[in-house]
Amino acid sequence: MTILVTGGAGFIASHTNVELLNEGYDVIAMDNLCNSSKESIARVEAITGKKIKFYETDMRDLDGLEKIFKENRIDVIIHFAGLKAVGESCEKPYEYYDNNITGTLNIVKMMKKYDVKKIVFSSSATVYGEPETVPITEEAKVGGVTNPYGRTKLMLEEILTDIYKADNSFDVALLRYFNPIGAHESGMIGEAPNGIPNNLLPYVAKVAAGVLEKVNVFGDDYPTPDGTGVRDYIHVVDLARGHVCAVKKLMEHPGLVIYNLGTGIGYSVLDIIKNFEKACGKEIPYVIAPRRAGDIPTCYSDPSKAERELGWKAQYGIEKMCEDAWRWQSKNPNGYDA
Ligand code: NAD
Ligand code: UFG
Repeated sequence: MTILVTGGAGFIASHTNVELLNEGYDVIAMDNLCNSSKESIARVEAITGKKIKFYETDMRDLDGLEKIFKENRIDVIIHFAGLKAVGESCEKPYEYYDNNITGTLNIVKMMKKYDVKKIVFSSSATVYGEPETVPITEEAKVGGVTNPYGRTKLMLEEILTDIYKADNSFDVALLRYFNPIGAHESGMIGEAPNGIPNNLLPYVAKVAAGVLEKVNVFGDDYPTPDGTGVRDYIHVVDLARGHVCAVKKLMEHPGLVIYNLGTGIGYSVLDIIKNFEKACGKEIPYVIAPRRAGDIPTCYSDPSKAERELGWKAQYGIEKMCEDAWRWQSKNPNGYDA
């Protein structure tokens, strides 16, 4: 069975490619490399001993995209491609709507033309906005999203839902990720953000490596046990395996399905710093800084629906997430750049 992985050189996609190849799927990856490196494809091939067919293509380029559909018989699409930086999306809303929405509409257009009926979509816990209660189930209200990036995720969920409603021969899995961190335990693939990281884990890893001076903890006066923000961090390999389960589910022709992918456990910013200190054996300097605009106090999932319906459950705890992130950081201080 052949899976087209869009954004296939990216962080979550590279880990998913490993799991797909290990399970015997053929993988076609497409990426315009705007936030990734082709080296990740080579590393995945080295880990698995299997080949990926790679296309350097922008999903907004309809002709380039069509070439992929013409040349291959695709069974399922896992759609990771997209821009994802919350802050940047507030500065460049047009670019975010154009890339994420236009790009996805092009993919749907090709699915219709080439009769590809199954798609797994990378959505986000951000669609829940500020949750009324935690843990968050899939039935929780969506909306109240505070930035253009998050709005593209919500809009794309709605667009894919409408496509399914109009034509029930489609099968759509909307996967709402919580906070993916960690790396493959080989230390060969991981998260390689451009410039100064926005997200907590890669920032902490760079402080541990001595590249950045100290962590800014954004607020210690939230209504949480230690006053700092609480999130549901999930090991990226667990998340990747969730995609394999979703692909298997789509083969049962389930229609439209929605799953939270998280561990169900919330950790604070200070918990993360402490666990990372243990993993790297160094002290991590931090200061309390003002709250970051748009942040919510607490966000963690109820992942039991995915366990019931996909047979998927996160296996790895916070210690392994930090150990694997540190192994990746220490073996690759410049990410994929030599
Ligand atoms: P990533 O940036 O590593 O991966 C996205 C990939 O898409 C990159 O390789 C990028 O080059 C590619 N891309 C972007 N625009 C493209 C275009 N027009 N054509 C072709 N390729 C394009 O990010 P990631 O963390 O691996 O995220 C993957 C998906 O999961 C994204 O859709 C993201 O929004 C979603 N997501 C991520 C998180 C997170 O915290 N990492 C949380 C929730 C959802
Ligand atoms: N934080 C700091 N200092 C930093 C970075 C983050 O204290 O330098 C704090 C934040 O305030 C928050 C927590 O660490 O309390 C996690 O922040 P991240 O930026 O790592 O993650 P978010 O939960 O804000 O957002 C991430 C992705 C979103 C996605 C969301 C839910 O960036 O795209 O998870 O999946 F929508």
